[in-house]
Amino acid sequence: MNLISNESLQPFDFVLFGGTGDLSIRKLIPALYFRHCEKQLPQDGRIIATARSSMDSDEFRALLDEQVRQHISDQDFDQQHWASFLDRVHYYPVDVTNVQSYQALVEALSGREEHVRVFYLSVAPSLFMPITKGVHAAGLITEHSRVALEKPLGRDQASAEDINDSLSAAFKEEQIYRIDHYLGKETVQNLLALRFGNALFEPLWRSERINDVQITIAESLGVEGRSAFYDQTGALRDMVQNHLLQLLVILAMEPPVSIDPDAVRDEKIKVLRALKPLTGIDAIENSVRGQYKAGAYSDGPVPGYLDNEDIPDDSTTETFVALRAEIGSWRWEGVPFFLRTGKRMESKTTEIVINFKKVPHSIFPTADGFTTPNQLIIRLQPEESIRMRIYVKAWGDDIQLQPVYLNLDFNDVFQKRKMIAYERLLLDLIRGNPTLFMRRDEVAAAWAWIDPIRAAWEQYQYRPKNYTAGTWGPGAANALISKEGLRWNED
Ligand code: BG6
Repeated sequence: MNLISNESLQPFDFVLFGGTGDLSIRKLIPALYFRHCEKQLPQDGRIIATARSSMDSDEFRALLDEQVRQHISDQDFDQQHWASFLDRVHYYPVDVTNVQSYQALVEALSGREEHVRVFYLSVAPSLFMPITKGVHAAGLITEHSRVALEKPLGRDQASAEDINDSLSAAFKEEQIYRIDHYLGKETVQNLLALRFGNALFEPLWRSERINDVQITIAESLGVEGRSAFYDQTGALRDMVQNHLLQLLVILAMEPPVSIDPDAVRDEKIKVLRALKPLTGIDAIENSVRGQYKAGAYSDGPVPGYLDNEDIPDDSTTETFVALRAEIGSWRWEGVPFFLRTGKRMESKTTEIVINFKKVPHSIFPTADGFTTPNQLIIRLQPEESIRMRIYVKAWGDDIQLQPVYLNLDFNDVFQKRKMIAYERLLLDLIRGNPTLFMRRDEVAAAWAWIDPIRAAWEQYQYRPKNYTAGTWGPGAANALISKEGLRWNED
């Protein structure tokens, strides 16, 4: 399977709006640098960064030199490659809300209409519309142009539709690339490989064999420097509507007929549409909202969410969500999918746990009474691994079964630098392969499932429950799963 073809890239102009922003510095520029080092960028591939600050290209390169360098390890840094990479980078100050201001880009891009042109909007969602209008009015959109947007796309289904409408006034749907960086992670694509590259799992991948599924995206970081954005957003919009649901759909989708972008995305959307709606009291009973208070990690104490000076004292924004979801389909009827995500949790752990059903009739005594049956644990972070929990007979006189793990650690297998998710996505974007990007109907279907949950929280004035920073979230999240005799995998 070849999700990303090795087809070489055509000459391009990568126009980066928000060039001085956090995402550009931490992820986008390093991702392009790594691909430059791997010689995957064509000689005539330019990065045209823009932001409001007034400076010239040399000053911008000096800024990158100082700031980006901190996000590339010494081991992965090569001075010669870095210098030749910086030759690709140019900077133009642009006030994106002022139509006149785009003239600088018109000049920079003039005569290069035949080249691939990417507009990458690494900016606040409120600027998506002004930029789309600006590049359109300046006549910068060519037939070889693409636009890429970061999630969250809107705050709900209606605002997402508004953004999409204004995008489609300027770009064709196939020119619009909606980014969810989780789709660029190796293990997420490996999930497709595991499911559809092996005949072994398919007969097991259904309600007859699977008892429940758990998906956890736990972070130990707090809201860092993004308080204002985060307080307006919350974990449901920031993580569930996109990353968690994307993991869920890839895990649950039917086999696509091919790896073609629309074949995959057609199957993904069917899962989103098959999610049973959580509305009203049903949403309250099947969800948990949390907000962290001060706590401690091994390296010291951390303040609570409300202790942050940029967060209002009475903020009810959730930093944690747990949900019990169900998919109404032949394959998944009756299988609970437990989803949870949170900031300032015990550790940075992203994993999918598939709990299989117990044996129908046990003939062996076991140390744990088969309390936890076979499990497949697919870990995305911190390490990328796949573990399978099976029972074996423990060595000794007795016939006593004991669970053990079959372990596959991708680090050991591949022994090379782990790509950051954006490396793959940016190359796909330049190349024009939309498989790992979200289609308009997917985004709409995800919001359609999320919006009633938020509406129910408002209707029932469901305030977030507190949890201590450095733990696995509020106790209510354990109650949500233990009602069914289950527990979160926290080993
Ligand atoms: C982003 C969210 O999309 O994903 C952040 O906005 C979150 O709040 C981040 O921290 C997590 O990404 P990763 O790749 O570190 O798991």
